[in-house]
Amino acid sequence: METIVFAGAKGGIGRTTLAVHLAVEYALRGAKVELIDTDSLRCATYWAERTTYPITCNTTAPDRIGPALRRAERDGSELVIVDTSLGLRGRELMALLAHATLVVVPVPPSGYDYIALSAELANIRAANIPVVAVISRARWNDKRVAPMRRALENGGIRVLDTVVHDRAHYTVLSGEGKLARDVATNCKAALEVRALHREIDQLLIAMPASAKSCTARATKRRQEA
Ligand SMILES: Nc1ncnc2c1ncn2[C@@H]1O[C@H](COP(=O)(O)OP(=O)(O)OP(=O)(O)O)[C@@H](O)[C@H]1O
Ligand SMILES: [Mg+2]
Repeated sequence: METIVFAGAKGGIGRTTLAVHLAVEYALRGAKVELIDTDSLRCATYWAERTTYPITCNTTAPDRIGPALRRAERDGSELVIVDTSLGLRGRELMALLAHATLVVVPVPPSGYDYIALSAELANIRAANIPVVAVISRARWNDKRVAPMRRALENGGIRVLDTVVHDRAHYTVLSGEGKLARDVATNCKAALEVRALHREIDQLLIAMPASAKSCTARATKRRQEA
């Protein structure tokens, strides 16, 4: 079982939006996916309670992530996507991230977000936890993206090629448990999500501990069935 954690102590950076979109990309490819919502605001839980996508969701306190993951594994989950809350940092954050196969930190291309998140990214990396940044909530043709990418990479942080833009389609139907792809299957937001899934999946495949990603395992299982 792999565990992807969306983290970043700053508010409104796109953790929940990307967590639910990525969960569905995996589920649509046959992987058994569980969302674990560690945010007491329960936005991912609210979404999951309304969705018809085959995603299970459990809410748990950040310091109960270990038992929650063990239960998910017992239930046969192949992938767990963990949503975290704003303000989770320091020792509490590191204890949660120790369970991650991969940590994804969305970073909007603004100076304040850079200041708030680059030090945190460096700490996660220094703790030897696999971590990537994804530039999120960029405007169309946003001149801040390239310098932000350079700054993060100069700090030794891997940045995904996929840039997530600010698009209404990401959130217009979220209150109904729906996603960008429900607005239009091939809208720009839906295509970005597919690109994000492809990139993250490649990273999981390349990780020594998980020889094959959960999508690859699900495909194999389908072929054998
Ligand atoms: N790519 C996007 N395009 C447009 N709106 C977005 C995008 N990503 C997030 N939003 C909106 O921005 C707000 C914050 O997004 P989201 O809840 O995903 O971030 P978060 O990091 O989980 O925030 P929180 O700190 O509340 O947990 C929400 O209103 C959401 O609808
Ligand atoms: Mg959130």
